[in-house]
Amino acid sequence: MREITITIDDRLISAREGDILLWAALDNGVYIPHLCAHREELKHPSASCRLCFVEVQGRPMPVPACTVKVSDGLVVNTRSERVDALVAAGFELIMSNHRLDCKNCAANGNCGLQRIAKERKLRLKPKNLPVLERDLQVDSSADGIVYDPNKCVLCGHCIRSCRSDGKGILGFTRRGYDRIVTTFGDVPLGESGCNSCGACASACPVGAFAPK
Ligand code: FES
Repeated sequence: MREITITIDDRLISAREGDILLWAALDNGVYIPHLCAHREELKHPSASCRLCFVEVQGRPMPVPACTVKVSDGLVVNTRSERVDALVAAGFELIMSNHRLDCKNCAANGNCGLQRIAKERKLRLKPKNLPVLERDLQVDSSADGIVYDPNKCVLCGHCIRSCRSDGKGILGFTRRGYDRIVTTFGDVPLGESGCNSCGACASACPVGAFAPK
């Protein structure tokens, strides 16, 4: 692919034509909040977390950076009033039903949510929205993995990693507020064929899947 130059926050950056903007920015030390994007999903990013909004010159509204392919001369701003408002609202929505238990969480100190809160100076505890914490059963039936669905942010990384590890035990189920990651058939992990390989725990950015 052809080397091109784009501008992010007034900084000239080299990228390859067709690269995804989110990764081009991150690879060059420009942080953009993100939870659901995956480097291998070039054609059909889920763009479901709605946290990676940026302003792209020529576009009337902010767009998710994980859906933008870079082209020569692209001009991007990662911050604006509109972007900051969208990211803050999206983050607060996620935090309104995320079980906040950082002290006892395996992801503490290496958590995607903590990183976003720190980078964008956002509160982990929602300020404007009521907390609608779920009270789903924690699954500790597998030998080496524990799954707390109350922490899940629906990024899908566990599903992808389980599939690419050859098992494909996990998937999304239900809709709307009740949407959740489960095993197929909704059986406990320990009865699902899970061999505790740890791929899901390594991929989970928020400690929903964690090693025992
Ligand atoms: Fe772009 Fe989630 S990383 S919408």
